[in-house]
Amino acid sequence: MLLISMLIITYFSIGASSVQINYIKVPPSVRNNTNRPVILDCNYSVRPDDTDLVVKWLLNDEVVYQWIPPKLPQSLGVLKDRIDLSYAATNNPNTVHRAIKINNPITSIEGEYKCFVSTFADEDFSAKVMIIFEPEKSLDMYENKPSRSKINFTCMASKVYPKPKLSLYRDKKNDVINKNPLEAIEWDTVRHQEDGRFSSFIVATANLDDLDPGDLINCELRIPMTGYVKRKSLIYYPLEMTTRNCVLSFKMNL
Ligand SMILES: *[C@@H]1O[C@H](CO)[C@@H](O)[C@H](O)[C@H]1NC(C)=O
Ligand SMILES: *[C@@H]1O[C@H](CO)[C@@H](O)[C@H](O)[C@H]1NC(C)=O
Ligand SMILES: *[C@@H]1O[C@H](CO)[C@@H](O)[C@H](O)[C@H]1NC(C)=O
Repeated sequence: MLLISMLIITYFSIGASSVQINYIKVPPSVRNNTNRPVILDCNYSVRPDDTDLVVKWLLNDEVVYQWIPPKLPQSLGVLKDRIDLSYAATNNPNTVHRAIKINNPITSIEGEYKCFVSTFADEDFSAKVMIIFEPEKSLDMYENKPSRSKINFTCMASKVYPKPKLSLYRDKKNDVINKNPLEAIEWDTVRHQEDGRFSSFIVATANLDDLDPGDLINCELRIPMTGYVKRKSLIYYPLEMTTRNCVLSFKMNL
């Protein structure tokens, strides 16, 4: 008897898969604590003759959601009480609770989300990462006093999550298309114990001979994998020209 059921399982998993995840939809990045819900969807197909359907969502390999139709779904672990269990992705009894609607995503629930679908005969899974980011508290840039031939620019970002990337580059007045990176000579990042955020700085240097009055010096902060970009700029004038201008610009592509 055992042998027969093993043969059946083997037949189903090798011969004709009876569960197929078509795709999962997980937002790649979400801003921390905005009070806006996000929906993670898992579109699967199950053969009509298959039984014992179970749909699970795992976060970093821990089960955070389980649905065994026709029972109601439940949220577990770090997502307990964070999911709207009444959310219906479809009106089909075999898929109605396949998606999870997370009410207010915060950084403690970021990571790899895996949808795991199993039946009596087969199983399938698919996973994607969701990053939950926290924009910086501040982004500052300044120029140091130049020496005879060189000048340093410093850019500092405080309390960003996850770890940001900083770079300094120059827009030439007559070439606004190309970024001209300045040579980084010093940089560091610290992690704050209390909330896990990061503060970073970078110092880059330029030869005075290479700079033209009116060049725009930019400090750019990126949070990798999120599309979050912010820039702070200053217009370079040699010391004898006293006017200084500061421009702040930012861009966010989500
Ligand atoms: C994200 O927001 C939550 C809720 O306000 C907060 O507790 C947490 O510290 C924030 N995460 C970071 C990295 O700041
Ligand atoms: C699920 O995916 C299939 C195949 O891509 C598609 O035809 C179907 O419309 C999707 N169903 C829902 C409810 O999104
Ligand atoms: C630029 O920074 C480097 C490293 O901090 C330092 O050694 C150098 O003296 C600085 N140069 C100027 C012109 O401030």
